[in-house]
Amino acid sequence: MKSQNEDIFSHLELGPVDPILGTTIAWRNDKDPKKMNLGVGAYRTEEEKPYVFEIVKQVEKEIFEDLMNGKVNKEYIPIDGDSTFNTCSKKLIFGQNAKNLDNIVTVQAISGTGALRVAGEFLRKFIPTTIHVPKPTWVTHHQIFANSGLKVAEYPYYNPKDKNFDADGMFSHLQTLPENSIVLLHAAAHNPTGVDPSHEQWNQIMTIMKTRKLIPFFDSAYQGFATGCLERDAYAMRLFNENGFQMLVSQSYAKNLGLYGERIGALHIVCHNSKTAEKVLSQLKLVIRPMYSSPPQHGAIIVSRILSKPEYFKKWTEELAAVSKRIIEVRHILRSELERLGTPGKWNHITDQIGMFSFTGLNEKICESLINKYHVYMLKNGRISLVNFLFNI
Ligand code: LMR
Repeated sequence: MKSQNEDIFSHLELGPVDPILGTTIAWRNDKDPKKMNLGVGAYRTEEEKPYVFEIVKQVEKEIFEDLMNGKVNKEYIPIDGDSTFNTCSKKLIFGQNAKNLDNIVTVQAISGTGALRVAGEFLRKFIPTTIHVPKPTWVTHHQIFANSGLKVAEYPYYNPKDKNFDADGMFSHLQTLPENSIVLLHAAAHNPTGVDPSHEQWNQIMTIMKTRKLIPFFDSAYQGFATGCLERDAYAMRLFNENGFQMLVSQSYAKNLGLYGERIGALHIVCHNSKTAEKVLSQLKLVIRPMYSSPPQHGAIIVSRILSKPEYFKKWTEELAAVSKRIIEVRHILRSELERLGTPGKWNHITDQIGMFSFTGLNEKICESLINKYHVYMLKNGRISLVNFLFNI
């Protein structure tokens, strides 16, 4: 160990740039006028401008007025977050009429990533088992759970040859997992592949997991983005809940309300009964308090106002449907352009996949050449964000 008058951090190695957020930095530094940023999943307008939902702008004005007249202030909020926000978020995931709402613990989180991290710490403390993530998955899943001290393993999910869901691979792998293993599932619009199980396949997954006594952990980052319908994108989570699973859900409002920078989301833990739920909540608070004390308030106010007022909720869902419709349109334009140009290979997967990404199937070498030669910034695993496509340059 070096001393104060020496360079005490000199033994550090330079860390790698983040494979997703790093693409935005590289794109920003590129001076080519034709550059395109297809890296990060953040919805933009056709002119490539950041998109703020109209309903969010309207509510922001109201919040500002309420701040001026003293109805809103800047004091700390509770460790588990804003109670109206938590109740609305729980109902959005599980449905207004879910029978077990009292058994579900909800805590506000620093968006979906924060929810995953809090859950990771909680699981390490109380169910220190292996978490099984799909192959491939959002790269950050591996880091979050490994940093939380959980063992991370992969299960087959994607069939690269046919660019579709590897149902047989996943089903037979789940059959081999030991009881109480945690299985991370993407609730809708699997990231990065855009390939989701059908309703029938979700029913099969549910039955296998029930028989094998596995613990589902849904990552819900795209509710409303996959199909344009909040209920449809909650199908799997509600199916598992109605079938009596004790399970976890991380929820993000980054995409479906465009609140990327507000870092607003929630963690839900479905318990066996309300007595256990009370204990789980108390333990979650003990995870959160020494981590970041209590969550930020602003995003929670925005979300609760939109979710709790029927008129605002309606406006939001209409806007969400329009946004997801545009993504589907981009898929069709991209596929037909590739086909019109006679680009080698088949391109049907572009319109078969859902959500904001296309897992193009392009290999790392081609991706690197698209980045370095053509200034098209994308992930090196072939994932592109469809919403930032510029066709008219
Ligand atoms: C993405 O996958 O692009 C997004 O979820 C943004 C992120 O944090 O990686």
